[in-house]
Amino acid sequence: MLSLQKFFLMKIRDIDFGEFPVFLAPMEDVTDLAFRLICKQFGADLVYTEFVSADALIRNVSRTEQKLTVLQEERPVSVQIYGKDVTTMVEAAQIVEQSKPDILDINFGCPVKKIASKGAGAGLLRDIPKMLEITREVVKAVKLPVTVKTRLGWDSNSLVITELALMLQDCGIEALAIHGRTRMQMYAGEADWTLTGEVRRNPLIKIPIIGNGDVTSAKIAKENFEKYGVDAIMVGRGAIGNAWIFAEIKNEIAGQALNDRENKNRFILPTNEQKKEILKTHILRSIEWLGGERKGIVHSRRHIAATPLFKGIPNFRPTRIAMLRAETKEEIFGLIDNIEF
Ligand SMILES: Cc1cc2nc3c(=O)[nH]c(=O)nc-3n(C[C@H](O)[C@H](O)[C@H](O)COP(=O)(O)O)c2cc1C
Repeated sequence: MLSLQKFFLMKIRDIDFGEFPVFLAPMEDVTDLAFRLICKQFGADLVYTEFVSADALIRNVSRTEQKLTVLQEERPVSVQIYGKDVTTMVEAAQIVEQSKPDILDINFGCPVKKIASKGAGAGLLRDIPKMLEITREVVKAVKLPVTVKTRLGWDSNSLVITELALMLQDCGIEALAIHGRTRMQMYAGEADWTLTGEVRRNPLIKIPIIGNGDVTSAKIAKENFEKYGVDAIMVGRGAIGNAWIFAEIKNEIAGQALNDRENKNRFILPTNEQKKEILKTHILRSIEWLGGERKGIVHSRRHIAATPLFKGIPNFRPTRIAMLRAETKEEIFGLIDNIEF
């Protein structure tokens, strides 16, 4: 097991992330502005937008353009794009650059059929020369630091990540996030971080390596930093309805790395009652962001369904179902307010 002591701070170009940074993964329909701001408040060191279709961007689709909105309070923020051909990706990257994010990320990991089978996202794991060409040309086309997020390979017979990481590095990317699954695994089974650790330990790799997959607790995050030596950890599903996970991870690591329980950098973790208020704030912000009460509430359902906050409350099922059916602020807030721990 490696030590938790690091001797350098993680940087992407001139953005300094400090030691043991924790990032919010890009998630479609989840990592919108409302949620990113909440994760930031709890210590997420970098937040990613939902992926943005390069095709839609160059066609000026307004819903897609809205995804490029970046606020000062959420910086540093990374905008992620996906697409299947070089020209479109280059043009989309230049459009993204005008919205002034801190980082531009390319998605080579999305396993969803309608994207991967059309040769975008993880589909490019079956056409590495094209993946490299897209990366090289996007890097050349923008001044922003460009990063990539991908998987271990297309399937278990093509675990290409070790060589691929070097090739992507040669294209000029400034960090690489690895989700420890293949495209064919989709989200099934457990993420395997072994190859991510191998990539990180390769002395030829000079760029930061971000580990991703199944980090659902502070304990797992700390273990993965120790075991695989990654420069940063990226949390996806573990943050849904659970934005305070970033603070929990940071505290766990601060306690360990600095051996200082009184460390001033420690976060004060919210109580269960405060967590209820955080969920309510999130719903309100979603309503505001999406411009409609019902829309905002429907959009927040994923967080209500996933939150570990209400786990273990006896006979909770009827309340849970009612929360997932609620369509007005009054209804859902009334239900949340009445929950007792
Ligand atoms: C609802 C949902 C949406 C996602 N959308 C994206 C996306 O837009 N871009 C991307 O690179 N990955 C996306 N992912 C994958 C996550 O970023 C992450 O790689 C994956 O969930 C594994 O990490 P986790 O176990 O921490 O969730 C998505 C995952 C989920 C569950």
